[in-house]
Amino acid sequence: MEKKELLEKINRLRKEKNAVILAHFYQESDIQDIADHVGDSLALAQWAAQTDADIIVLCGVHFMGETAKILNPQKKVLIPDMNAGCSLADSCPADEFEEFVKSHPDYTVISYVNTSAAVKALTDVVVTSTNARKIVEYFPDNEKIIFAPDRNLGNYINSVTGRQMLLWNGACHVHEQFSVEKLVELKKEHPEALVLAHPECTKPLLMLADYIGSTQALLNFATASDKKEFLVATESGILHEMQKKNPDKHFIPVPPNDSTCACNECNFMRLNTLEKVYQCLLNESPEILVEEEIRQKAVKPILRMLELS
Ligand code: 13P
Ligand code: SF4
Repeated sequence: MEKKELLEKINRLRKEKNAVILAHFYQESDIQDIADHVGDSLALAQWAAQTDADIIVLCGVHFMGETAKILNPQKKVLIPDMNAGCSLADSCPADEFEEFVKSHPDYTVISYVNTSAAVKALTDVVVTSTNARKIVEYFPDNEKIIFAPDRNLGNYINSVTGRQMLLWNGACHVHEQFSVEKLVELKKEHPEALVLAHPECTKPLLMLADYIGSTQALLNFATASDKKEFLVATESGILHEMQKKNPDKHFIPVPPNDSTCACNECNFMRLNTLEKVYQCLLNESPEILVEEEIRQKAVKPILRMLELS
C-alpha cells in the first residue's frame, strides 16, 4: 500500500477507535511522525498512565507495552509486532532473579523499566535512565540495593552517586556494541563535536562522552547547547527528533563494532513498521495481556516510580 493511503487509513482508524499512538525515539522515522506522542521510556509510562483513549498502540518493544497494560488493565494495549522483545529484559529471567532476590532478603530491589512484568513483580521501585539517579539517591546512603538488570547503567549510577549497589549482570546488545575505536576516529575528524552517550553504553565509551543521559536528556542537551556538531552513541532512531528540533545542527551516529554500517539500530525496535501499525489498529491485535496476579504486584513499583519522578 502507498504511504499516503496507509497514513489516511491509520488516521481514520485512530479516530474511529479512540486510539492513542505512543512511540519511542528508537522507532523508524515514519512511525515517530504519525505518533500522538514520541518520547523516552519514562514519558511513555507517564502518557500511558494519563490517557483517556480506549486503545493504546505502543510503538516500542514488549516491556513498554506491558508497562502500559499494567497501568491500564481495562484498556486494550496493542503492539505492532509481538516479536519486538529486548535483549536487556531477556538478560534477567524472572525465575533466576527471584532466587537472587531471595538470597538477599535485606536488600531493596530497584529494577530498570527494561524488564518483564514478572521481574517488576519482584521489585520495590522501577526506574528509567531519566530518573535512576534521582530515585537511587532518594534512599539513604547505607541502604542495601540490588540494581537490575543493566550492569552498565548500574555501574554508571554507582560511579556518580558513590553507592555500591549490587548489580545484576545484564546488558543491551545495542549499547554494548558501540565501537570505541571508531568513536576515537570520529572525534579526530570532528574535533569540535560533543559526544553524547546513553548510560547503557560500556564504561570505556562513557569515558569519552561529554554528556551522558537518557534519550530525552540527550535530546534536551543537544537542543540547549550552542555547539553545532554531536557524535551520538545511542540507537540511531533518536537522530530523527534531534535533527527535527535542531535543523541547523549536525548529528553523527557512532557506529557499532564489526559492521560496515554507520548506524546502530535495535533490531527489536525496528520490527515495527507503518504497515504493522495499520494492521494492529485494524485487527486490534497483537494485544498485550498480563496475568492479574503479576499485574497487581508489578503496578506498585511502577506507581512508586511515577510518584518519585
Ligand atoms: P530511554 O528511552 O529511557 O533512554 O531508554 C533507552 C532504551 O534502551 C529503551 O529501550
Ligand atoms: Fe532493549 Fe537495547 Fe533494544 Fe532498548 S535498544 S529495546 S534496551 S535491546
